[in-house]
Amino acid sequence: MGIFKKKQNYSIENIVMPEHVAIIMDGNGRWAKKRGLPRSAGHSAGAKNFRKIIRYCSDIGIKYLTMYAFSTENWKRPEDEVGALMKLFKQYLEEALRDFKDDTIKLQFIGDTTAFSEEIQSLMKDAVEGSRNRDGMVLNLAMNYGGRSEIVMAAKKLAEKAAKGELSANDITEKMISDSIYTAGQPDPDLIIRPSGEYRTSNFLLWQSAYSEYVIMDKLWPDFSTDDMNFALLEYAKRNRRFGGV
Ligand code: FPP
Repeated sequence: MGIFKKKQNYSIENIVMPEHVAIIMDGNGRWAKKRGLPRSAGHSAGAKNFRKIIRYCSDIGIKYLTMYAFSTENWKRPEDEVGALMKLFKQYLEEALRDFKDDTIKLQFIGDTTAFSEEIQSLMKDAVEGSRNRDGMVLNLAMNYGGRSEIVMAAKKLAEKAAKGELSANDITEKMISDSIYTAGQPDPDLIIRPSGEYRTSNFLLWQSAYSEYVIMDKLWPDFSTDDMNFALLEYAKRNRRFGGV
């Protein structure tokens, strides 16, 4: 796996497109540090770029897009940084609700959203309700998301069924776990993009990423452009996916 640095204009005409793309929006802090700005300024720039990239993905026909916005571990960050992120989430949700009538994106949340303030939870609920009947791109926003806790959640659901006698432990299948996690009913991600050059999964889509293709790029999230997105899509199109076969 290499880190990709090249940048030029990339055409994605007639290439094999992934159905489900997932992005780890990493590097906001470093982007701010490089400019002598507080980390919150990096998150603001990251949120601006988030809007641009989701729109682009919708325009080019991506069917499912999953964006890692806040992990179960991100609560450990300084209070002012967490506060700045909450403010950005609230702004985006209010804006999404305002612009709803013209939009085609179907918004969903993956993660334990009960940890957010009543106000944010209520905005999330309205945003999901308001976009429920859309037929455009599904945008999964990972908020207070952790891959391990998602698997624990599935284990608990299945254990409860077993305790009630509705299921025998021996009959548990992979599909039952896939159907018990946040992305139930959706295809697994084909392509996971990690800007900022780190070689880690960071607890993102652990179950779903078993056969995902990773593209790691040496770009900080606020600088990640539509051209970088095209580069990642072209890189994906070149991969020979075997899913464990030959
Ligand atoms: C990781 O970069 C980024 C986050 C923990 C936050 C991601 C959130 C956004 C991009 C804002 C999303 C906004 C909306 C509206 C959904 P980092 O801060 O860990 O970067 P570093 O590794 O350079 O410090």
